[in-house]
Amino acid sequence: MIEAILNELEALQHKFEEQIVTVNSANAVEALRIQYLARKGELPQYFKKLGEATPETRPQLGQKLNELRDYFEAALNAKKEQFGQPTRGPKVDLTLPGIPRRLGTRHPLLKTLDEIKSIFIGMGFSVESGPLAETDYYNFEALNIPRNHPSRDMQDTLYLSDPAREEGDIYLLRAHTSPVQVHTMEKQKPPIRIIAPGRVFRKDNLDATHSPVFHQIEGLYVDEGVTMGDLKGVLLAYARKLLGRDIKVRFRPSYFPFTEPSAELDVWFPAKNRWMELLGCGMVNPAVFDMLGIDSEKYTGFAFGMGIERVAMTKYGIDDIRYFYDNDVRFLQQF
Ligand code: FA5
Repeated sequence: MIEAILNELEALQHKFEEQIVTVNSANAVEALRIQYLARKGELPQYFKKLGEATPETRPQLGQKLNELRDYFEAALNAKKEQFGQPTRGPKVDLTLPGIPRRLGTRHPLLKTLDEIKSIFIGMGFSVESGPLAETDYYNFEALNIPRNHPSRDMQDTLYLSDPAREEGDIYLLRAHTSPVQVHTMEKQKPPIRIIAPGRVFRKDNLDATHSPVFHQIEGLYVDEGVTMGDLKGVLLAYARKLLGRDIKVRFRPSYFPFTEPSAELDVWFPAKNRWMELLGCGMVNPAVFDMLGIDSEKYTGFAFGMGIERVAMTKYGIDDIRYFYDNDVRFLQQF
């Protein structure tokens, strides 16, 4: 038995010698010490076997083990001198102040949208939504814009199918949020009081005030006895809540096929020293009610639609729409 153990110890010594020459850091020296000499290390296991050895072989085995331990210790100490003390985990100075983490902020467009929504919700409107891909019917026809109507050129539309097709549905990316008016009037009878925010798409080139993908919010109010006075009152209250009581606004006559009469609401943009168009609006054209089966003798209504980017630009004095999409933290962290 002693022979077998002595052979094992010789193999252990060889293994140690092979490993110690590859050691190249204080931590590796320490790892090797733990492997061979720590309480549960490889060599101490043999010291436990001393008790099992016969009285004749015990001194020989004891001596061999002591020699081997001294040999390992000496070799490890030499390496320790070469590489110094092992590091115990990362060195941390707990008295140093921490690294402040920058907190994210809400995107100015979302902030603006939240504010617009809460103003209209406060006036009794509820929030609706509709699909981004629409058919020609919802984007145009049901809004009193028949095929070949010249006002289709007003918005350069992005088509998903050939607009010259004679038959079947023509698919497109909605050019405004007004199709949500149609969806709402199809499924709900008056009184209706909704807003509908969302993304819209146009074949516009990107410049300081235009983007081919932008956001609008639609509003629709239908009931008995709704007048142009209600339209002006609601939109003026909205503009003042959003931009402050002193904001300068003007209603300018305009044209939309789905409203009659139509107007545009401009606000004074002090940063640029000029008027800026905030939204389009008007009294719902009775032709739209007729198409959707709403009694135009009984009900009247008003609708409006505005660009959320333009609202945010006016509110925060931003003079270029492209800042919203660049994802530059220097811009975004200001909100
Ligand atoms: C419309 O889209 C109508 N649907 C609005 C409407 C709704 C009128 C309900 C009456 C009743 P217009 O094409 O003018 O209208 O666009 C509305 C607003 O979207 C504009 O006032 C402007 O603020 C914004 N807008 C238009 N084109 C762009 C663009 N390319 N980039 C950013 N904002 C835009």
